[in-house]
Amino acid sequence: MGVSVVVTSGKGGVGKSTVALGVGRALAQRGRRVLLVDCDAGLRSLDRMTGAEENLVFDISDVVFGRCAPAEAIYPCGEGQGLYLLPAPAAGENQIRPAVMRKLVPVLSRYYDYVFLDSPAGVGGGFRTAACAADRALIVCSPDPVCVRNAGAARELLLKLGVEDRRLVINRFSGPLFEATGAYPDLDGVIDAAGVRLFGVVPEDQLLAASFLRGRKAPEMCAAMKAMSRMAGRLEGEAVPIPDEL
Ligand SMILES: Nc1ncnc2c1ncn2[C@@H]1O[C@H](COP(=O)(O)OP(=O)(O)OP(=O)(O)O)[C@@H](O)[C@H]1O
Ligand SMILES: [Mg+2]
Repeated sequence: MGVSVVVTSGKGGVGKSTVALGVGRALAQRGRRVLLVDCDAGLRSLDRMTGAEENLVFDISDVVFGRCAPAEAIYPCGEGQGLYLLPAPAAGENQIRPAVMRKLVPVLSRYYDYVFLDSPAGVGGGFRTAACAADRALIVCSPDPVCVRNAGAARELLLKLGVEDRRLVINRFSGPLFEATGAYPDLDGVIDAAGVRLFGVVPEDQLLAASFLRGRKAPEMCAAMKAMSRMAGRLEGEAVPIPDEL
């Protein structure tokens, strides 16, 4: 039985889909079977970021409403790479109830080592749909006070949904910007304010952003992919330290 991981944030545009894809790719690189589930109905992005966009016929709503079998709506992201996508509907709002996800996710988890549930922005219905069946959560935030406050809200709502294992991913970290903003003395200040144990720190990295936005793999040696690989190792239970220099 695989592990289901919701990637969420509260605030929008902080890198949930980027982290889900980056860590998913790093795990696939290690030989794991990884399924990315895009839960962002109407505003899906993982289809484009994985490069699977052109092949799509069915999506998760087709599975849930019985229009196709789960396997028909799951698409490989490149051949033989161990990474798969269950896309969100291209249009419309989230119509998938948590009760349905609680049935679907355990079924998917039988066939994959990891199922990543990419949450939409906000803490409404889509957030609940993405989070309700997760074994654990990665809460993504950039190191700014608004985002950190939202991460704290997501932390509490996740607990109400029964997700006890919640960890923080600080994304888009840039030392000079962090110092210039001066909102926190150091990263420990961010972690304390969010109230969530740290899981990983991903640096600001235009190489990663440009690759994903074009549906390409990011170079394994780029700084952000190295951070994704470290998080993949931690998910596998390895004690991978956070380096002083990212
Ligand atoms: N570490 C990073 N370095 C540079 N750019 C990044 C990084 N992480 C994310 N981005 C960029 O930030 C933007 C938002 O990222 P992404 O779509 O992953 O966020 P999101 O939280 O999933 O957004 P939404 O709430 O809309 O679903 C994208 O343009 C992405 O390329
Ligand atoms: Mg997203």
